[in-house]
Amino acid sequence: MTRPYRSVLYIPASRERALEKARELAADAIIFDLEDAVSPEEKLRARELLARMLASADYGARARIVRVNGLGTEWVEGDLAAFGNHQGVDAVLVPKVSAPADLEAVAATVKVPLWAMLETAKGCLNAGAIAAHPRLEGMVMGTNDLAKELGARFRADRLPLLAGLGACVLAARAAGKVIVDGVFNAFKDEAGLRAECEQGRDMGFDGKTLIHPAQLEIANEVFAPSEEEVALARRQIAAFAEARARGEGVAVVDGRIVENLHVASAEALIGKAEAIAARSIAAGAV
Ligand code: COA
Ligand code: MG
Repeated sequence: MTRPYRSVLYIPASRERALEKARELAADAIIFDLEDAVSPEEKLRARELLARMLASADYGARARIVRVNGLGTEWVEGDLAAFGNHQGVDAVLVPKVSAPADLEAVAATVKVPLWAMLETAKGCLNAGAIAAHPRLEGMVMGTNDLAKELGARFRADRLPLLAGLGACVLAARAAGKVIVDGVFNAFKDEAGLRAECEQGRDMGFDGKTLIHPAQLEIANEVFAPSEEEVALARRQIAAFAEARARGEGVAVVDGRIVENLHVASAEALIGKAEAIAARSIAAGAV
């Protein structure tokens, strides 16, 4: 059963209180950040604190992803040495991956699966080759950095970013990898967050990266199949099975055709709903 990634919460590795709090938060995954959310003065203290927390704290079913500092910085080597083969780490997230060679550069020292930040123009153009890297498990859109590099303005509809977002979704799906959308900066704007989550969901993203616990509930809701969707999927599967029993290859449900490809989507949707239900039970949320 595939793991859900509806809500992927960034936590600055320097914030002990937030690292502790995360053990009770309803995030499907956590990105422990050593990169941009941590100031240069705090880098080493944050690394030590995080290594200690990950060795002792129980984060339950939440995926534990560590975002290391950028390739070429003075900290990345120490970050990779501390977390590339750490018992409490599920994946290492490499910032600003622009080509598969960037993953190759860390593949030898890192034993856990790799994730890549897609946040440069080059990275978006090379997304297919990056996604296909055998060690890569997941991709995260870095929409703030991408907008900065493109010289794009903020727009609620994200029109300036759609080419990059779409290229990365295509790449992730072609390679069968997880892909999570970028953050929504205005963490007190619930309507804005919901709209952007819905846009990402409709494009095919698995979930959204988040910066504040107040954003968890909306992302978890929007990226989960609704009860109506699950019920429709079950009716489609049943109707198709009946059609096949009659020797036919197409069924009709609610005035729409159902072919075997729709059945595959319906089964995937039910699988996702079941994975989310299992996740909630593991987290003690139900
Ligand atoms: N993860 C876990 N807990 C968090 C959190 C996070 N990202 N952000 C805030 N919290 C906790 C706080 O510790 C606080 O807990 P407490 O009341 O039990 O002490 C509670 O949530 C409320 O926090 P609040 O006071 O509303 O926010 P803040 O002013 O402390 O922090 C931000 C606001 C934006 C600075 C903070 O959310 C943050 O640093 N987010 C992550 C930024 C990041 O990682 N960026 C890099 C990728 S874009
Ligand atoms: Mg970035």
